[in-house]
Amino acid sequence: MLLSRLRAAVLGATGLTGQRFISFLHDHPLFKVALVTGSSQSAGRTYTEATNWFIEGTPPESVGGLVVSETRIRPLLDADVDVVFSALPSDVAGPIEHQLASHGLPVFTNAGYHRMREDVPILIPEINPGHLGLVRHQQYNGGYIVANSNCSTSGLVFGLRPLQRYGIRSVTVTTYQALSGAGRSGVASMDILGNVVPYIPNEEHKLETEPRKILGVLRDDHIEFADFRINASCVRVPVLNGHLESVVVELEERVSVETAQEEFSTFSGAPQELHLPTAPTHPIVVLTDPDRPQPRRDLTTTQQDHGMSVKIGRIREKDGLLSFFLLVHNTIRGAAGASVLNAEFAAAKGYLPVRGVN
Ligand SMILES: NC(=O)c1ccc[n+]([C@@H]2O[C@H](COP(=O)([O-])OP(=O)(O)OC[C@H]3O[C@@H](n4cnc5c(N)ncnc54)[C@H](OP(=O)(O)O)[C@@H]3O)[C@@H](O)[C@H]2O)c1
Repeated sequence: MLLSRLRAAVLGATGLTGQRFISFLHDHPLFKVALVTGSSQSAGRTYTEATNWFIEGTPPESVGGLVVSETRIRPLLDADVDVVFSALPSDVAGPIEHQLASHGLPVFTNAGYHRMREDVPILIPEINPGHLGLVRHQQYNGGYIVANSNCSTSGLVFGLRPLQRYGIRSVTVTTYQALSGAGRSGVASMDILGNVVPYIPNEEHKLETEPRKILGVLRDDHIEFADFRINASCVRVPVLNGHLESVVVELEERVSVETAQEEFSTFSGAPQELHLPTAPTHPIVVLTDPDRPQPRRDLTTTQQDHGMSVKIGRIREKDGLLSFFLLVHNTIRGAAGASVLNAEFAAAKGYLPVRGVN
């Protein structure tokens, strides 16, 4: 049978994460953008008219002419979509994602609303591919919700997963988070120009809990959280894209700098084995120059990387503590790119429908 690309809806398509979705999906081999939604302010205008395009280039032609729909259940069902990607603010996302899953649709979301539900996986297929199985326990009659993590968490877990077999006792993480992490309306220029702000609402709690779920073990219908403490401090800095994180890990077994470098640079997982379209060749790239990684110099998206690899550098070991810096692209690996990879993985594992050509 000839197969057609799955029809995808992007909720919150006009925002920063939504724009990244459009850029990942517009010529994707498995998905085709069939519907874009926004708030009532954007609804009824073409995507190009409604969107203040913040990322590289211009809105792709195949999507630019689509008329933005209101984010309500009826137009979404009428559009006959096969899969939903959500980039809505959390409080808006919660109810509509629930309704869509109840109507049998698979929903891949960036929003935090459902993340800590016992039956919703926070999926990162390089790290916890088996957690996808949790969706079988969702009571949605065929539909389901798969979340990806908060943007800082998505970097941190790559720094922790390769070390987990040495026994993680505790983690101390300090983040230096970009402005784009706060969405298009962001942070007022008067607050951030020439300044840093040592407070991001709700962020520390997310960073202290989500990694323990992601790095936990699937036990039938729930995840047993990984058993270590995380202490997080989150800071907003005047950088456009890219969250830098200073990480200190206390391990049961001593790990040398050379071993850590080896563990990080050889780390890979299911997306690499399956050659998924959005998978980076190397999920972690180790940088050895003493002043790297830096957001301005190391976020570059190459064809092999798509902005999906986490950069790690300045690895140090002292008194049983392993320290390093990591850098993650917050709207790509921390948001839209991660969701697209999750959907590609779900398709590879038979969790998405197949659409034949008429
Ligand atoms: N930015 C990041 O780095 C990042 C990383 C990880 C996760 N996330 C999560 O991704 C989601 C989107 O974040 P963002 O940074 O892309 O935000 P954003 O730039 O502010 O975009 C928000 C989107 O939601 C739409 N929207 C706002 N209020 C709405 C309403 N009442 N009804 C329907 N649509 C509405 C907006 O449409 P209009 O354009 O019409 O207003 C826009 O398309 C959030 O849940 C966020 O926590 C973001």
